[in-house]
Amino acid sequence: MSLNYAFGFSLFLLILVALNIYFFYSLNTTGKRGSMYNVPGIKLDLAPSVFKDIYDHLNYLPSQYKIKNPKFIPIQKNLVKSFNSSGLNNTKNVWQNTENWVSEESLFPHGDGVPGRILREMQTSQIALVDNAPKGTQMKLLLLIQEKQKLYFKPKRYQLSDVIHGNIYAGFDRHNSEVFAYYLAMVMNFKWIIPSVIRRVHVAKDVVPVATLGLKKTMIRNESGSFCIYGKCFYCKVNETVCPDRNGEIEGAAILYLDKQFKVHKSPWRRSYNSKKMDWEKDNDFCKKVMGILSLKRILNLIDVSIFDFLIQNGDRHRYEVYKNKIVLLDNGKGLGNPMIDELDILAPLYQCCMISLSTWQHLEILSGGHLTETIKLLSSFQGEILATEEHFKAVERRLLKIYATIQYCIGKHGSAKVFKTA
Ligand SMILES: *[C@@H]1O[C@H](CO)[C@@H](O)[C@H](O)[C@H]1NC(C)=O
Ligand SMILES: *[C@@H]1O[C@H](CO)[C@@H](O)[C@H](O)[C@H]1NC(C)=O
Ligand SMILES: *[C@@H]1O[C@H](CO)[C@@H](O)[C@H](O)[C@H]1NC(C)=O
Ligand SMILES: *[C@@H]1O[C@H](CO)[C@@H](O)[C@H](O)[C@H]1NC(C)=O
Repeated sequence: MSLNYAFGFSLFLLILVALNIYFFYSLNTTGKRGSMYNVPGIKLDLAPSVFKDIYDHLNYLPSQYKIKNPKFIPIQKNLVKSFNSSGLNNTKNVWQNTENWVSEESLFPHGDGVPGRILREMQTSQIALVDNAPKGTQMKLLLLIQEKQKLYFKPKRYQLSDVIHGNIYAGFDRHNSEVFAYYLAMVMNFKWIIPSVIRRVHVAKDVVPVATLGLKKTMIRNESGSFCIYGKCFYCKVNETVCPDRNGEIEGAAILYLDKQFKVHKSPWRRSYNSKKMDWEKDNDFCKKVMGILSLKRILNLIDVSIFDFLIQNGDRHRYEVYKNKIVLLDNGKGLGNPMIDELDILAPLYQCCMISLSTWQHLEILSGGHLTETIKLLSSFQGEILATEEHFKAVERRLLKIYATIQYCIGKHGSAKVFKTA
C-alpha cells in the first residue's frame, strides 16, 4: 500500500518536471520566432539551412556592425586626397609613365592625387579616333585619346532608376555598375581593378569626324536623322541601337584599356546559365573539392571577389582573369540590376569555405555604418558623377550587413582561428 503511494507520488513529480521543461522550452522558441527576419527573395530550395543560419546571425548582429567605425576616417581622408582633382592643373601629364604603372600592389598609381587626375583625363581628353572594340558580347567602343592611350566605352542602356527583372545575369550591361564597381573596389582597398569613369561623347562632334570606317558601317540614322550605333559584338543587333540624348550626347562608362595579357580561368562557382544545377549548388562540401585543385591564395582571392560581387549583385562572373597571380576585377557591368534583391548564393565561396583573408576582413569590418556608400558618393562627386539611386546605395549597405552575418555564422561554426587566414 505505502509502496503504491510512493510510486504514485514520484510519477506526479516526474510529470511536473516534464511540464516545467516544456513550458520553458516553448517560451524560448516562441521568443526567437517572434523576431525572425523577413527576407524577400531567398530561395528555400537551395541550401536552406545555411541561408537560415546566416539570417539568424543577421538578427543578432553585434551593434558594432551598424555604426561607423572611427578607424576608417584616416583611410577616407587619404582616398579623398587621391581623388580630389579640383584645384589641380593639367600641367603634369599623367600618361607619361604608364608602362611603369603596375606594381606588386596595384595596377596603377594611387598616391599624389594621381587617381583623380587619371579619371579627369579619361573624362575630358579630346578623342582622336573611335572604333568598335575588337571583341566581346556587348556593345563597346574603343576611344583613342592623347596619341596612344585607349579607353573602352560602354554606352548607357538604362536609366539609373530602371529595375532589371529576371535572372541575375539578365539585361544589358549597366554602365554605372562598371564605374560604381571601380569606386567600391577603391573603398574596399581592392587595387586589382582598372580606372573607370562616366563620360559623355557628342556623337556629331566627337565621334562621327573621327570614326573608323568599320564603326561607320555599324551606325544608322534613325527616323529623325540622328546617328545611332548598334556596334559589333556577339549580342549586337541592328534593332538595338544606342542613340544620342537631347544634347546629342551618348553617356557611357570609359574604362582604361590596359595593354596586358590576362590569363583566363573558369570560376569553380560559375552558374550553368540554364536550369541544370552546378556542383556547388548541390554539394555543401564543394569547397573541399576546390581546395584540392586551387591554392589557398587563389581561393581567398575568389572569396574576396564574391564579397565584392555580392555587394553589387554581379552574378555573372563565370570566368575570371588573372594578372601577376591575382584576379583582376574586369567586367563589372552586371551589377546594380535590382535593389530589392540580394541573391545570397553569390556568397557561396564565403559560406562554403568559411574563410576570409585577415587583411580583407580587417578592412571590411571598419566600413560599417554607412562609411562604404558615403565614401563612394564622396569620391565620385569629384568627377560630378551620380552612380546609383538611393535604393541601390541602401541595398549595398544592407548586403554589407549580410556579409558580416555570414562571417559570424562561420565563426560560430568553426571558430575564428579557422576563419581568418593570413596566406
Ligand atoms: C578638394 O580640393 C580643393 C582644392 O584643393 C579644396 O578646396 C576642397 O576642400 C577639397 N575637397 C574636399 C572634400 O576635401
Ligand atoms: C592652377 O592654375 C591657376 C591659374 O591658372 C593657379 O592660380 C593655381 O595656383 C594652380 N594650381 C596648382 C595646384 O598648381
Ligand atoms: C531585335 O530583333 C531581335 C530579332 O532579330 C529580337 O529578338 C529582339 O527582341 C529585338 N529587340 C528589340 C529591342 O526590339
Ligand atoms: C532618333 O534619335 C533621337 C536622339 O536620340 C531621339 O530623340 C529620337 O526620338 C529618335 N527618333 C526615333 C524615331 O527613334
